Amino acid sequence: TSTTDQATKRVLLAAPRGYCAGVDRAVVTVEKALELYGPPVYVRKEIVHNKHVVTTLEKRGAIFVEETDEVPEGATVIFSAHGVAPVVHEEAKALSLKTIDATCPLVTKVHREAVRFASDDFDILLIGHEGHEEVVGTSGEAPEHITLVDGPDDVANVTVRDPEKVVWLSQTTLSVDETMETVRRLRERFPSLQDPPSDDICYATQNRQLAVKQMAPDCDLMIVVGSRNSSNSVRLVEVALEHGSRAGHLVDYADEIDEAWLEGVTTVGVTSGASVPELLVRDVLTYLAERGYADVTPVVAAEESLLFSLPNEIRRDLKARG
Ligand code: F3S
Repeated sequence: TSTTDQATKRVLLAAPRGYCAGVDRAVVTVEKALELYGPPVYVRKEIVHNKHVVTTLEKRGAIFVEETDEVPEGATVIFSAHGVAPVVHEEAKALSLKTIDATCPLVTKVHREAVRFASDDFDILLIGHEGHEEVVGTSGEAPEHITLVDGPDDVANVTVRDPEKVVWLSQTTLSVDETMETVRRLRERFPSLQDPPSDDICYATQNRQLAVKQMAPDCDLMIVVGSRNSSNSVRLVEVALEHGSRAGHLVDYADEIDEAWLEGVTTVGVTSGASVPELLVRDVLTYLAERGYADVTPVVAAEESLLFSLPNEIRRDLKARG
């Protein structure tokens, strides 16, 4: 490589990226619970969908379980940021578990919308990815009223009781553009389709996609830091490719980057999903700097300042401890 080539190599660094307010609150909830009650603290499902976060908390004494019945009677269990169906609260009660609910308030908002439209006897078309924990939790609020719509191609399969009384809601971490396409097709079939009272796709998902859209046309390669099971992270790779990045990859850690990806690459875009600690992004930047990509330019699509207060149980016990 000639010196001129080296000089043109650069990184575009997305902002915002990484932790959203809901993830921050959920991770701090587990940390505070470990401090307050001592290990082990049980967590139902991955607290957030990030490998590094989960293994770090495991080392500190968190025990991750799939279902509530794996938690010993009377122990403390934390529900993950993705939310749970009401039946899970009942199961926990039956086992006399002490529960701490780390569901993101923006997911809880969608649960409330579901409950309200169900009590008004609407058919609710929930746009989301089949099997994702958030969708399982939201659907559990009103199983009789909710039909899952897994993207534009699923619209043809949808049936409703009364086409005049239909509303759509969505998972919080979807692709904004794809969801709008799903809604467009749904409305073709059900012209009276109502919109949710406010955006269900959360601010963090929207902002991270916005930044990627701005950068993508200039990128030869987009590296998204995030885990495979993280819906919003996976969407960022898709959005990058749709908006002109020539290549895009999702990595949990810098050492998963394949040197071959950098062949002929001048501009590398870097971002991270809403569940990703910043130190993992730093590692990627270091990796790139060592290979000549030391010039880092931020691309700022939005400013974020939202913070959520911790769950009541934690706040109360922190206060009692003084
Ligand atoms: Fe909540 Fe959105 Fe984060 S729903 S957990 S703020 S990605």
